[in-house]
Amino acid sequence: MDKDQLVECAKEARSLSYSPYSNFAVGAAVLAKDGSVYLGANVENSSYPVSMCAERNAIYNAMMDGKNRDDFVALAVVGDTEGPISPCGACRQVMSELLPPEAKIVMANLRGDIKEASIAELLPYAFDGSDL
Ligand code: THU
Repeated sequence: MDKDQLVECAKEARSLSYSPYSNFAVGAAVLAKDGSVYLGANVENSSYPVSMCAERNAIYNAMMDGKNRDDFVALAVVGDTEGPISPCGACRQVMSELLPPEAKIVMANLRGDIKEASIAELLPYAFDGSDL
């Protein structure tokens, strides 16, 4: 699967977003080495901080199917943004822990803009378990 196809999966995930408070739907898709794709969308709550982002839901969805860090190849995220959507800080921290360093993070919007980055580019000087 190429990155455009993974972005299409993220758009499909976006259609499942529950975002009545922000009205900002986000979709994400994680690709595993065996070709499996796991979807996630943002799921909000009236108690706003309880809401969960699309990227984390996609990663957690994959983990609940038995996948782990070594299985992941790429994550795509899409939103209706001016340029490619940029993952929030909490999601960057989770990606840094649960995706391998070589994973490709593909950021996209609905207009066809796409940008790719590594986790190290998104979160330099990350805090990790070795700091504890
Ligand atoms: N959101 C995501 O799901 N992923 C991002 O990369 C940025 C923000 C969600 C959180 C909240 O439900 C809504 O978008 C507005 O911040």
